[in-house]
Amino acid sequence: MTKRVLVIMGSVRAGRHCPAIAQWVSGVGQERTDLEIEIIDLAEWLLPMDDEPGIPALGLYEQHHSKAWGQKVAQAHGFVFVTPQYNWGYPAALKNAIDHCYLEWKGKPLLIVTYGGHGGGKCAIQLRQVADGLKMKPVSPMPAITLSNAVIRENAPLDA
Ligand SMILES: Cc1cc2nc3c(=O)[nH]c(=O)nc-3n(C[C@H](O)[C@H](O)[C@H](O)COP(=O)(O)O)c2cc1C
Repeated sequence: MTKRVLVIMGSVRAGRHCPAIAQWVSGVGQERTDLEIEIIDLAEWLLPMDDEPGIPALGLYEQHHSKAWGQKVAQAHGFVFVTPQYNWGYPAALKNAIDHCYLEWKGKPLLIVTYGGHGGGKCAIQLRQVADGLKMKPVSPMPAITLSNAVIRENAPLDA
């Protein structure tokens, strides 16, 4: 059976670099494995922070979007988080998506790929702690891609 991997983009902001980096990460995975890889844009998953009265760990989702997101995560065998570092942490949109379910993450491998002016190591360490809390299986290498000032401040191409 082909294993399904979701590459989840951490950034939802306008003008983000995340799609290009996620495409590259996904391409590397596609070239070297026979995994079925799908890129997930959290901007397309409206997951309001205030409309689920239950605790996700109990799996009692009331809203259609929470059920759909839970199923999407449940159907995957592994994950790659491709995320920028924001103010020494990870983006709120990514944490919100993580917190919308619970058991669906459990026991599944996770590769954390970060990027930023300093590569995103602080964000990676924090995400790893979250993954441990969810009893995921984060792999040890946590690639951290350093973006140049030109990319960050002048929106130059990623290889500038
Ligand atoms: C809200 C915000 C906070 C940021 N904080 C950091 C940071 O702590 N460390 C860092 O290296 N870069 C930081 N940056 C720069 C980002 O790494 C850079 O803008 C990157 O392109 C953001 O990813 P995105 O374009 O996919 O959203 C920050 C950018 C934003 C928008």
